[in-house]
Amino acid sequence: QSPPLVCVIPGDDAAPEVMRPTVEILRSLVPEIRFVEAPCGREAQVTHGTPFPDVTREAIDAADCTLFGASGGPSRPILWYLRWNKETYINVRPVRWIPGYRSPMLNPERIDYVIARDNLEGMYPPREGDVAELDALPSSSSWWLAPPVDKVGAYSLKVSTDEQMQRVATYACELALKRLAAGYPGRVTLGAKYSIQPRTDGRFRSIVKEAVSQHPELTYQEFLVDDMARRLVASPESLDVLVLGNEHGDILADVSSGTIGGLGLSPSACYGENYAYFEPVHGSAPDLAGKGIINPTAMLLSGALLLDYLGYNEQARTLESAIQQTYQAGTLLPVDQGGQAGTTEFVNAIKTHLP
Ligand code: NAD
Ligand code: IPM
Ligand code: MN
Repeated sequence: QSPPLVCVIPGDDAAPEVMRPTVEILRSLVPEIRFVEAPCGREAQVTHGTPFPDVTREAIDAADCTLFGASGGPSRPILWYLRWNKETYINVRPVRWIPGYRSPMLNPERIDYVIARDNLEGMYPPREGDVAELDALPSSSSWWLAPPVDKVGAYSLKVSTDEQMQRVATYACELALKRLAAGYPGRVTLGAKYSIQPRTDGRFRSIVKEAVSQHPELTYQEFLVDDMARRLVASPESLDVLVLGNEHGDILADVSSGTIGGLGLSPSACYGENYAYFEPVHGSAPDLAGKGIINPTAMLLSGALLLDYLGYNEQARTLESAIQQTYQAGTLLPVDQGGQAGTTEFVNAIKTHLP
């Protein structure tokens, strides 16, 4: 078997500042992995005349998986390619507080769950139209009798296919079973707006509930997504695997991130049947670009998820443990964590805990 090939997309704004040290550390942990950096965004626009050149698409296709920085706009078409063309249907966002993380919560040690977010559908496939066209669309409620067809305005559509909801539900159950074996409660919690969207979120609710009922060792819980948002703050200890639609998962992942100490700390992994890509939950942090202070933790932890995907579990734990030891020591912290360490300085501190 040939060694794995990873495509690296540095991304926009401040993202490359965390990507470069991450790739360096991953290389040192597993020298046999081949990392191939592909041009993207503004730089690619200059060198190749497009933010998403063919060579980049080919590099993504040729690789076993992709490590993606973050897009601040220019690299967005690449993100869509990674999601929709590679059909990475599930966006997995672990939410775990580690001693040393500067959390605004009173008892952050209770926070240890995973968000399983739809990565393809909901309101993301951009289909918008004019309110004048609303009369032609069926309504699932008799309460809102008259669409404002005589007004100027637009609507957006939300899309949920049975196939996608089913595989999101299946993934959540498998994850909960795996976590159950590791001592977690085996609880799947759905957050959705089934009260007002019977055909999309209502159907999602039935599908997830039915999927969980196939596994007697798992328990099922559901909350309307607005109440779910409160629970992330009020009772995160009750959560194990949280299933959310695309836009709800996007928003609540940032809330969750806030509870452990911020976007600098939250990794994610997106899996499909045949492909995966890894990116931090945060964006390109344009306000930090060029300052050398962006926190590399989220990117590094996304790198650890990549190592797991490729089967280098031991090296993934080594990396997580080095990060954990650095925070636990607390002698040096990144700026967003109330410290003074720049990106390089903090990465160097992590390196002292690596073999
Ligand atoms: P953002 O996540 O880039 O930044 C929000 C805030 O968090 C900023 O104050 C930023 O400085 C801070 N922050 C983010 N990451 C940090 C880190 N690693 N260390 C320290 N502080 C960090 O979100 P935004 O400002 O709303 O969006 C900026 C751009 O990023 C937008 O174009 C947005 O669409 C895009 N975005 C991309 C992705 C992605 O590619 N996966 C994800 C989210 C946002
Ligand atoms: C995320 C981001 C993306 C999303 C943006 C960049 C399109 O916010 O991955 O959380 O909304 O999914
Ligand atoms: Mn987001």
